[in-house]
Amino acid sequence: MSRLVAVAKLLRGGGLPWLRVARDGLAAVRVAVGAAGLSTGVLECLRDGSADTASVRARLGFDDDGLLEPWLRVLQGHGFVRSSAGGWSLSRRGRRLLHDEVVRAAYEGFAGYHTGLYRELPSQLHGGPARRDIAEHGETIAQLTRAMEPVLHEALVAAVREVRPTRILDVGCGAGQNLAAVLAARPAAEGTGIEVDEAVADIAERLLAQRGLTGRARVLRGDVLALAAGGEAGGPYDLALLANVVYYLPLAARVPLFRALAGLLSGGGALLVTTTAATPDPFSRHFDLLLRAQGQGMELPEVEPLRRQLADAGLRPEPARRLVPGQPLVTVLARR
Ligand SMILES: C[S@@+](CC[C@H](N)C(=O)[O-])C[C@H]1O[C@@H](n2cnc3c(N)ncnc32)[C@H](O)[C@@H]1O
Repeated sequence: MSRLVAVAKLLRGGGLPWLRVARDGLAAVRVAVGAAGLSTGVLECLRDGSADTASVRARLGFDDDGLLEPWLRVLQGHGFVRSSAGGWSLSRRGRRLLHDEVVRAAYEGFAGYHTGLYRELPSQLHGGPARRDIAEHGETIAQLTRAMEPVLHEALVAAVREVRPTRILDVGCGAGQNLAAVLAARPAAEGTGIEVDEAVADIAERLLAQRGLTGRARVLRGDVLALAAGGEAGGPYDLALLANVVYYLPLAARVPLFRALAGLLSGGGALLVTTTAATPDPFSRHFDLLLRAQGQGMELPEVEPLRRQLADAGLRPEPARRLVPGQPLVTVLARR
């Protein structure tokens, strides 16, 4: 029986819902396989060259009762490793997973906290403890957020063109890629990132150095409100970025944050807020639940209430722009 005939028979027999679940399920398995390739250390073990099963077992200290060979075959089946006379080696996909920080974070994040939310939801709905993803996975979150860089890039460059800043602030700068992008678009400018997570601040400093920006950029470590209140946040700034950060604060804390940021802006300076907005989009709904499950009052903002809060803080918000048609990612530029 050809594959087409088999699929046609399944569909006639009412198999479409099953096929959909199977397709999605297999995609989820592929992501879990990649993440386990990292967490078991097998991909790392093949970093510098090929090795046979016995060497992999010895190097990783496994006592696996025959599981390692089938596990390597799973990695092979999903295209992460290859097998040859020399033993097992990394495929191009496996090498990318090992070496590309954003791809790595995507596998770890989606196999980890993004789906862990639902594995642990029954217990949380029965009063179990809140999640601790922000505290435990800050580096993965910051690296995974870099995946938005190509989508955000145009809005960042447009803001630089409009505001023509010489001093730029990036609040909750994460891995630092947005600060690097605006500094690259505005060679006359100097930049300051503020980041509360020490390990994430290290990543930002590394990325800014890799892009040759150490002399034009610094990263301040600490909570932005505390740094602003203590006069340590510097300024005045012509352009402040608040990219994918606003939902870290409860609704009631956002106007005070916007006020504090307005206080760091020069006359005519601007704050660019970018965020995933609360919409009926399935990813937006999922992300909002993930935030609420942290038990710290975190939630996605709705667009118009966000603009009203910026106005309540004394800023003049322009209309919101959607970054990708149909997607919940928006930017709002608000002038002082
Ligand atoms: C989702 S990441 C986004 C990072 C970056 N802005 C981007 O768009 O890729 C949010 C970052 O904001 C930082 N952050 C959250 N609240 C903060 C605060 N009050 N002060 C400083 N940094 C904060 C977090 O530690 C985290 O690294």
